[in-house]
Amino acid sequence: MNKPARMSTMPRDGTTSLVSGEARCPAPSVQEIIRSDAKPAPAVLTHEHYEFLGDADIPVARYTSAIFFEREMELIWPKTWQWACRDEHIPEAGDYYVYEVGPFSIIVVRQRDESVKAFVNSCLHRGTKLRPCEGEGHARELRCPYHGWTWALDGGLKKVPCAWDFPHVDPESYHLPEVATGRWGGFVFVNLDPDAKPLEDYLGVLPDHFADWGLEERYVDLHMAKELPCNWKTAQEAFLESYHVLETHPQLMAGVGDANVQYDCYGDHVSRFYAAGGVNSPHMEEQLSEQELVNMMLVGDRSVLDDMNVGEGETARIVMARFLRRTLGEKYGTDLSRFSDSEMIDTIEYHLFPNMVLFPGLSLPMVYRFRPIGMDPNRTLFEILFLRPLPDDRDPPEPAQVFHVKEEESYSIVPGMDPAFGAVYDQDTNNLRSQQKGYLNALHSGRKTGQTLGNYQEVRIRHFNATIDKYLAGEAIVP
Ligand code: FES
Ligand SMILES: [Fe+2]
Repeated sequence: MNKPARMSTMPRDGTTSLVSGEARCPAPSVQEIIRSDAKPAPAVLTHEHYEFLGDADIPVARYTSAIFFEREMELIWPKTWQWACRDEHIPEAGDYYVYEVGPFSIIVVRQRDESVKAFVNSCLHRGTKLRPCEGEGHARELRCPYHGWTWALDGGLKKVPCAWDFPHVDPESYHLPEVATGRWGGFVFVNLDPDAKPLEDYLGVLPDHFADWGLEERYVDLHMAKELPCNWKTAQEAFLESYHVLETHPQLMAGVGDANVQYDCYGDHVSRFYAAGGVNSPHMEEQLSEQELVNMMLVGDRSVLDDMNVGEGETARIVMARFLRRTLGEKYGTDLSRFSDSEMIDTIEYHLFPNMVLFPGLSLPMVYRFRPIGMDPNRTLFEILFLRPLPDDRDPPEPAQVFHVKEEESYSIVPGMDPAFGAVYDQDTNNLRSQQKGYLNALHSGRKTGQTLGNYQEVRIRHFNATIDKYLAGEAIVP
């Protein structure tokens, strides 16, 4: 991909610049919108970090080719940090969590000193998986179900049945192969690369940006998973841009600034989008008043409308943020008064390469994860988690169990899921199925074998693919 590096200093006068990457939606920018808020956004939200990354087509074969997929399996998945579980999934010594991606399986084990170790989930006798599938459990030792070879929680070989027959097995060299671990934001990360640089280096700007968002002070309130009929990149890229809202999710347009979302890229591993809530979509022909915006956002909860008058000098955003600060604070049993209007109502979404998406805001507190299933380039496991703030005066709730949604089922069936929100994900699923099939059609008909991206609204997709290319080429990575 061509990548002329040029930082944008785009004028926001609504004109279309002839310089690639400099044109923007003429509606007010997110930065302009948040400047009118009553409780100002933190410093990490008051800058832009866009760079034009080129405008060449992205070949669709990247999403269908078994050869390309195998290269990813060789050069990306075993070389990058991925979150395996939350700390609260494995609170006690002996608790373990099996994380699987593609053909890889890793067992993460809580140690007696509260640290975490991870091992390749394969027996050193004849290769059997020590635990058969993904998920959590508890054990005093790691014992293979085939012939009973057994390892201690720290990976040291403990027992070989009929050891007299294995004089050639030196316990010292039969320690379970360790996988690097790291912890951040309440997540336990693993990296199969024996030469992996520390997680802290990999995370780039994330620890700084998330310093006041306290993801370690949250818990998994909802956890759902669905197999999607598409490549893992196809699935993930649907969540890196807001350009599709107009056509795919028209019901979301009232109350969200979609065409004027802000897109930022940081180093090779991190990107973000930042969408203002409580404003009119630039696509709406008839713009709602501030009071109408509030009324519209409270559909379904009209009992509170009387308290929701937009006062002199106020905006819908200010009123909605105040409302959510109070109602979500009561619901979660915690004080949310320190959060800005933006953190309360905006959609703030970070991507960490290769497969983690994080929403630090409070009204949409999701985490997404995208993983290839086995060696199939056309199947992806997509998970959605809701991370809610821990209550101030109660014990932390147990993390929610994974609810598996079948491909043909709606996300709305998940207990605790807002059906209207589930319908949004259903709309995305329909697109993904069609897009993956469309890639194959394009390849076989041979007419247009690349996808064309918007310079600004789809820059995170280009950034993501550029990082993939760097890993595949063995180039130096900039965290
Ligand atoms: S394969 Fe594990 S003990 Fe034999
Ligand atoms: Fe979508």
